[in-house]
Amino acid sequence: MSANVACFFVAALSLFASVSAADSKSNPADELVSVLNANRTTHKSSVLFNNPGLGCIALQYIKAYQGQCGDVGGSKGKKPADSEFTDTFAPNCNVEASTLSPITGRLLGCQTKYVQPNEAFSDILIHNDKSLEILYSKNHTEVGAAVSGSDGGSPYFWCVLFSNGKTNSSFSLSGGVVKTQHPGCYSGNNDDCSGAVVSHVVIAWTLFAGALIAVVCVFGL
Ligand SMILES: *[C@@H]1O[C@H](CO)[C@@H](O)[C@H](O)[C@H]1NC(C)=O
Ligand SMILES: *[C@@H]1O[C@H](CO)[C@@H](O)[C@H](O)[C@H]1NC(C)=O
Ligand SMILES: *[C@@H]1O[C@H](CO)[C@@H](O)[C@H](O)[C@H]1NC(C)=O
Repeated sequence: MSANVACFFVAALSLFASVSAADSKSNPADELVSVLNANRTTHKSSVLFNNPGLGCIALQYIKAYQGQCGDVGGSKGKKPADSEFTDTFAPNCNVEASTLSPITGRLLGCQTKYVQPNEAFSDILIHNDKSLEILYSKNHTEVGAAVSGSDGGSPYFWCVLFSNGKTNSSFSLSGGVVKTQHPGCYSGNNDDCSGAVVSHVVIAWTLFAGALIAVVCVFGL
């Protein structure tokens, strides 16, 4: 009897744990900002404000590459024109053009395999002295991050944009309304975007594992 009760609790707990794990991991762009800010803190750099308007623009920045990994970095690297911020990115994000502020740094990476945000940070985005210098720069006050697959699949782009704008009056959203963008996730918007980057398969398997323990317990009665 007590074994069955214990069994039930283990099953219930693991189911609960897998649901909350899926929940807390629902926005990889926000996780990336957490990793980045934690790293800056240990380096005695200030914590950067996670600005949703700037996050949305980071996702637009990714979309400008139209899935072309080869256009990121290296000698053939391309960069969206500055005019795209006012002409395309801001209107698509509902960001008031008058509140666009200077970009003080960017980190961009692309890879065919999806990795966790902490690995994207240390393995893809921060890869040389130049990227470390951008990471720890005292010029930034705020940050926006985004991740997106192309049509929800490989390759996966990660983008971090830094700005020195005033945190409460830059990249402001008209009427305070955030525009949801798919596919992809961006930071600062409290949006659950788990299905937008990584397929639901991962979450389904975690839930299945919880259910499996329950089934085993029931059969064990
Ligand atoms: C911060 O990130 C850099 C680059 O990935 C890494 O070398 C360093 O160990 C990190 N610091 C901490 C405290 O995690
Ligand atoms: C910070 O801003 C100054 C002045 O604009 C510039 O000279 C410097 O290169 C910037 N630092 C970094 C790390 O971008
Ligand atoms: C923005 O923040 C500054 C300093 O934190 C404050 O003085 C100012 O009133 C704020 N502006 C708005 C529009 O909230």
